[in-house]
Amino acid sequence: MCGIVGMTGERGAAGSVYERLKLLEYRGYDSAGVASLDGGKFFVSKRRGRVYSLGGEIKHLHGHTAIGHTRWATHGKPCDENAHPHVLGKFAIVHNGIIENYAELQEKYFKGVQFNSETDSEVAVRLLNYFYDKDPLTAVKKTVDEIAGSYALVVMCADFDGIIVAKNKNPVIIGYGNGVNYCASDAPALAGLCDDISVLSDGDIAVLTDKKIEVYDGNLEPVMREKLKNPALCAELDLGSCPHYMLKEINEVPTSITKTCQAFICTYDNIKSYLSGIKRIIITGCGTAYNSGLIGKRYFESFARVPVEVETAGEFRYKNPVIDKKTAVIAISQSGETADTVEAAKLVKSLGGKVIAVTNSPYSELTRVADAVVPVEAGQEICVAATKSYTGQIAALYLLALTLCGGDVEAGAKKLVAASELCFQLIQRLDICTLADACARSDGVFFLGRDLDCAVATEGSLKLKEISYIPSEGYPAGELKHGTLALIDIRTVSVVIITDEYLAPKSLNAVEQILSRKGKVAVVTNIKDVTKKLDGKVNIIEIPDCDKYLSPLLSAVVVQLLAYKTSLLLGRDPDKPRNLAKSVTVE
Ligand code: F6R
Repeated sequence: MCGIVGMTGERGAAGSVYERLKLLEYRGYDSAGVASLDGGKFFVSKRRGRVYSLGGEIKHLHGHTAIGHTRWATHGKPCDENAHPHVLGKFAIVHNGIIENYAELQEKYFKGVQFNSETDSEVAVRLLNYFYDKDPLTAVKKTVDEIAGSYALVVMCADFDGIIVAKNKNPVIIGYGNGVNYCASDAPALAGLCDDISVLSDGDIAVLTDKKIEVYDGNLEPVMREKLKNPALCAELDLGSCPHYMLKEINEVPTSITKTCQAFICTYDNIKSYLSGIKRIIITGCGTAYNSGLIGKRYFESFARVPVEVETAGEFRYKNPVIDKKTAVIAISQSGETADTVEAAKLVKSLGGKVIAVTNSPYSELTRVADAVVPVEAGQEICVAATKSYTGQIAALYLLALTLCGGDVEAGAKKLVAASELCFQLIQRLDICTLADACARSDGVFFLGRDLDCAVATEGSLKLKEISYIPSEGYPAGELKHGTLALIDIRTVSVVIITDEYLAPKSLNAVEQILSRKGKVAVVTNIKDVTKKLDGKVNIIEIPDCDKYLSPLLSAVVVQLLAYKTSLLLGRDPDKPRNLAKSVTVE
């Protein structure tokens, strides 16, 4: 949430920062800005809107040190004044996070002073000037000591030809180049620029010049941070022939499943050892990750007969949960940086519990907190709406549940690979235009199902509302008559997912109830009998038949493509839905 890039040692650094910021727009796109430093003078361009809106001015930003920011607004509306960098006196800063005590700091140090913006961040640049006495590192240290909250803070000082980076609870990496050094919120910004990166820890302050990088801990003692291979690949960031990342990433669903299987087999022994003696599981995560947990619950309970609770991380972390040595908490997160999920994992650790992370981000905060990591190999996901990471998470949870029950994981992986092939075929042939058109014209869309189909319905609803802004609800089909039916009329569309033969007659009742209230219905099914019964009555989306437990992978592709097409019909940008951003590192 908020993307930051900094570099020092490159001629025309502002131009490079500008280009790299574009790769971080998934973290926020309310406003953008770049500042450069040349001969003790700052040059700044910033405004409301997307990064490209700065394009015309970047060539006027001189110097070989620059910092940039793409914002997801937390404090203060999206506008030019609130855009970062904040430049004042001897300092220019960009900040990701929330300074929770900014009002107290304002009162304590700057009473009566007129601030230039409504942001919490401005207090940081004022504190830097306040504490500055010829030594920028000490000024940064004194400033962060005053701040309560979270920050990735990147600082330029007019008297120092370099960059200082401070970190607490918001991700920031540093990159080791050749005569150029870098910092960024996330690895894609540094793809192709440097082979080695380090992930900063909470409390770290790093000082970057063109020649070297020094890292200090919270006591300003020098520390070494492990050098890691930069995981971001330029090829992954290339849209190729796809008009949007969302479509590109749905096309990559099959690969995400197969690669996750391969990675699981490689880490199987390690993961297995962490599962021994587990008698209860709590799954936690947010949004789509939570929704994949709903499917995981069904796997663990069916295969291993172990009771599972699924709770959103934002609820779980404030509930004083009951944790014991026989409970494993599975924290699911694509980014591995979601604040609620990471804090939930830390809480579990502080209570003496075990945390297993299921994540797509090998160097994330969540992996550092967790006892064991189950890798999701979806590759870099750029679109704000999660797609291939969801199916990767389902694959990982399926194999994890098989591991817990002592099942045949290799056979499970083969089934997943077969399902991924069916996903591929489905993506090639699926025509969802009629249904997307009906959704785009509707007042609301309901997604219904039972059991696993209900879990996918929940995700389908989230995806649709997130990128089309159409009100939507995902609902257990059996609950329809207990309230939601009151909302059904000719202006609504209900998408009913039916992939379980045993439950099909029950879900068909829901279809009839909707039809008799004149609601429009589409049915996503792989059951021939359902198709036969509903032929001519509703829009039927046939999906390939496959193992009952893996059909969510196929219906997921349908609801993802439905959301994508509907969003396009309404003229939305599916990659950058309004008000949202990826990697929610604030509460
Ligand atoms: C929805 C979506 C979000 C994320 C949620 C958790 O399409 O992408 O709901 O799933 O913000 O993010 P991670 O998985 O990074 O913890």
